[in-house]
Amino acid sequence: MARLIALFFMVFALPVLAQSVDRPDPNTATTGPATQSLDDILRRQDNLKVDDSERRAIIGGPEYAPSVDSPLGTRGGASDSDLWRAMRFNNGDISTQNTGPAATVLMQDAGMWWLDIRRGPLQTYGAYLLGGTLLLLALFLLIRGRIRIEGEKTGRTIERFKAFERFGHWLLASSFIVLAITGLISLFGRKVLIPAFGHDAFSTVAIGTKWVHNNISWAFMVALVMIFFFWVMHNLPDKTDLKWLAKGGGIFGGGHPPAKKFNAGQKLIFWAVIVLGGSISISGLSLLFPFEINLFAHTFDLLNGLGAPGWVGMENLPSDLSPQEEMQYAQLWHAIISFVLTAIIFAHIYLGSVGMEGAFDAMGKGEVEEQWAREHHSLWVEEVKAKQRVQPGE
Ligand code: HEM
Repeated sequence: MARLIALFFMVFALPVLAQSVDRPDPNTATTGPATQSLDDILRRQDNLKVDDSERRAIIGGPEYAPSVDSPLGTRGGASDSDLWRAMRFNNGDISTQNTGPAATVLMQDAGMWWLDIRRGPLQTYGAYLLGGTLLLLALFLLIRGRIRIEGEKTGRTIERFKAFERFGHWLLASSFIVLAITGLISLFGRKVLIPAFGHDAFSTVAIGTKWVHNNISWAFMVALVMIFFFWVMHNLPDKTDLKWLAKGGGIFGGGHPPAKKFNAGQKLIFWAVIVLGGSISISGLSLLFPFEINLFAHTFDLLNGLGAPGWVGMENLPSDLSPQEEMQYAQLWHAIISFVLTAIIFAHIYLGSVGMEGAFDAMGKGEVEEQWAREHHSLWVEEVKAKQRVQPGE
C-alpha cells in the first residue's frame, strides 16, 4: 500500500508540485533556488553547505536516485540531475562536433555491465575452459596413450591431400593460431602483462597485437572459405557416421569403425570450424567496422518474436540497443565463441600430431601409410583403390 501511495505521488503529485514552484533567476540567486547557480557550484567546491531543498523537491533527492557509490550513481538534487539523467537515458538535445553514429550517446549504463563481464567471468571461465581442455588432453594421453597403427606397416603410401588443400589448411591453421594468441593478449594483457612488464611495454605490445590481429583476420576468412569448398562434399553426414559414433570411433579399443574420407569426429570438427569460425568472422567484421554492421538488435528481435527467451524462462532480450551496446555484444560473442573453438582446436591439434601415429603425414607430406588409411578410413581406401582400377594410369 505504502508503495502504491509513493508511486501515485511520484507519477501525479511531483509534476504538479514542480510546476507550482516559482523558479528564481539562476544568475542572481545564491543558495536555495530551484536551479543551480554558479555560486552554488563554487560553494560546493569549497566544501560549504548548499541549501538544495527546493531543487530536491522538484527533481528528487538522492533517495530517488541510485546510490552515489554505485556505477553511474547520482547525487540526486545535490547535482544537475536533470542534465545527467537526460544524458544517461539518451533523451537530451545533444549536438557534438563528431558526427559518427554513436557520437550523441554520451553515457550508457550497459558500459559498466559489459566491462564487468569482460574483465570478470569472461576471463575466468575462458581460462578454465582452455586450461581444463589442456588438462583433459594430457590425462587422455596418460590413460590411453598414443593411438598407434595396430597392423603391420606396408611401406606403401596413398595420397590424402593435394598441395592446394594443404595450403588452405595451413593458411587456416597458422592464421588461427596467430589470432588466438593476439586475441588472448588483448583480453588478458591488462591483468597479466601490465603487472609483469609495466604500462609502457604493454602499450607497444598492445598496439602491435591489435594491428596483427586485425590484419591476419583476412587470411583466416579467406582460408575458411577455401577449406569449405574443398571439403564440404566429404563432410556431409551419412549412415556410416552413426555407426562410427555408436562405437566411439574405437578410440578405447574394439577396432576403428569403417569411415569414408572423413570420419564422424572429423566431420564434427569441420562443421565446428565452419560454423563457429564463420560466426567469429562475422562478429569480427562488426568490430572491425564499428557501428556499421549491427547484428544483435535484429537477432534479439527475431528471437523475441519466436518466443525463444521464454523457452529458458528468460524475459525478452533487449532489442533497442545503442550503437555502443551493439559493439559490446559483438565483443562478448566474438570472445566466447573464440574460446569454444580454441578448445576444440586444441583437441584437433593433439590428434593431428602427438595423439595419433601417422596422422600428421596427411597434412605434412600429403601422403599417408596405407595401413593407417585402412585402419582409420577403410571405406575411403576402397573408393581410392576402385578408382585406381578403373583409371590405372592415375
Ligand atoms: C598445428 C596445428 C594443426 C595440426 C598439426 C593439424 C593437423 C591436421 C591434420 C593431420 C589433418 C588431417 C587429418 C586426416 O588426414 O584425416 C587436419 C585436418 C583438418 N584441420 Fe588441422 N591441424 C592444425 C590446426 C588446425 C586449425 C587451427 C584448424 C582450424 C581453425 C584446423 C582445421 C582442420 C580441418 C577443418 C581439418 C579437416 C577435418 C579434420 O580432419 O578434422 N586445423 N589437421
